[in-house]
Formats: sequence, structure tokens, C-alpha cells
Amino acid sequence: MSLHLVSHPLAQVILTELRNKNTPPPKFRRLCHRLTTLLALEATKDWATQPYEIETPMEAHEGAVFTHGMVVVPILRAGLGMVEPILALFPEAQVGHVGIERDHETALPRSYYAKLPPVADQSFLVVDPMLATGGSALHAIQSLREAGAQKISLLCMVAAPEGVAAVLAEEPELPIYTAALDRCLDERKYILPGLGDFGDRLMGT
Ligand code: PRP
Ligand code: URA
Repeated sequence: MSLHLVSHPLAQVILTELRNKNTPPPKFRRLCHRLTTLLALEATKDWATQPYEIETPMEAHEGAVFTHGMVVVPILRAGLGMVEPILALFPEAQVGHVGIERDHETALPRSYYAKLPPVADQSFLVVDPMLATGGSALHAIQSLREAGAQKISLLCMVAAPEGVAAVLAEEPELPIYTAALDRCLDERKYILPGLGDFGDRLMGT
């Protein structure tokens, strides 16, 4: 299964506060930080390591280092809120950016920015809190594929069934990590029950 539901009770409690329309931006940002940490730990729990020899103060020891480097790729804007907590866990990670905005009338993605580090031997975490139609995520993943990226995972906080289906139709093997699989999209392609416009709530716009 490519869809991984992060069902830890803490994730569900944090998500409930994120969904609450009375949660103001400062608290919303802290909740975003905490939930991202849980998602990132789950998304990386099977990442390969290789032996690494060190000396402890007591004796020689065979430890571990990751086999691949990491690139975090936030989809602007809302994905920016997920970068800092991942860098707190993986300080060596590089950060690529893709700017994609949904058209308010059609809900179709429009790309306005892309800057990626070299892709060789890297594992990519595409981060965007909301997976609605899947158009933005697919656009970002396609950009990474064109740049040569092979190992890609998608992290979101809330996913709609429509978005999951759209991503897996194009990328059947791509792992998707989410804290919730919501009911459906409304006529404006917003997620129900969802949490509204994540970018606006995060940035206070
Ligand atoms: C939101 C969200 C995703 C996208 C999801 O961004 O952060 O990027 O919509 O919708 P989709 O799955 O139907 O493509 P938005 O376009 O509102 O831009 P913003 O982050 O700048 O607010
Ligand atoms: N983008 C959001 O921020 N929220 C939704 O429900 C759908 C797209």
C-alpha cells in the first residue's frame, strides 16, 4: 500500500486543533510544526542506513549513517510550514522549492517557481499540508522526475480521496503519508471536513 495513515493518537489530537476554525495563526504554526515532526518520523522509519565506524570514549563502535541524503521540497506557500520541523530532525537536509498556486476559479495548478539542488543519490520529501485534487502535488512530483529524482515520498496532513487517487494513478509506487483521509471535496475543490485554506491560516492572510 502506498497510502500510509499516521494514526498515532497525538497526530489526531493535533489535527483536531488544526481543524478548529478558532485556532489563531500563532497556535496554528506550532501545531503544524508538531504534526510535521510525527509525519516525518513515520515517513523515514524504513530509510536505509549503512555501517559507520566511530570511537566512543570507551571503545570502537559500529554505528549507522543514512545511505542517501535528503532533500525537502515544500510546495509554496503552505508547505513552508513543514520545512523547519524536518530540518530540526535532519539538519543536513537540503531544501528545494516549487511554487505552485491553484487558480481560484478552476482549481488547476499554476507553476510560478522552481529551484532544486542536484538530485543524484538523494531521497526527496515533497511536503504540502493539503492534498485536494492532487494537481499541485503531481505537478511538483513531475518537476522532480524531470530533474531525475527517483526516490520521492509525499507528506501531507489532510488528504482527500480524490487527490490520493489522482496521485496514485500517475505514481502507483509513490508513498503518501497523511494524518487523515477526509471525506471528499466540495464544489470549490476544498477538502471536507478539512481545515479550510491552510496557506491563509498559516500565514495569517
Ligand atoms: C493549496 C495547498 C496545496 C493545494 C492543494 O495551495 O497548499 O498546494 O492547494 O490543492 P490541489 O491538491 O487541488 O492541487 P494553494 O494553491 O491554495 O496555494 P498557497 O499554499 O499559496 O495558499
Ligand atoms: N487547499 C487548501 O488549503 N485547503 C483545501 O481544502 C484545498 C486546497
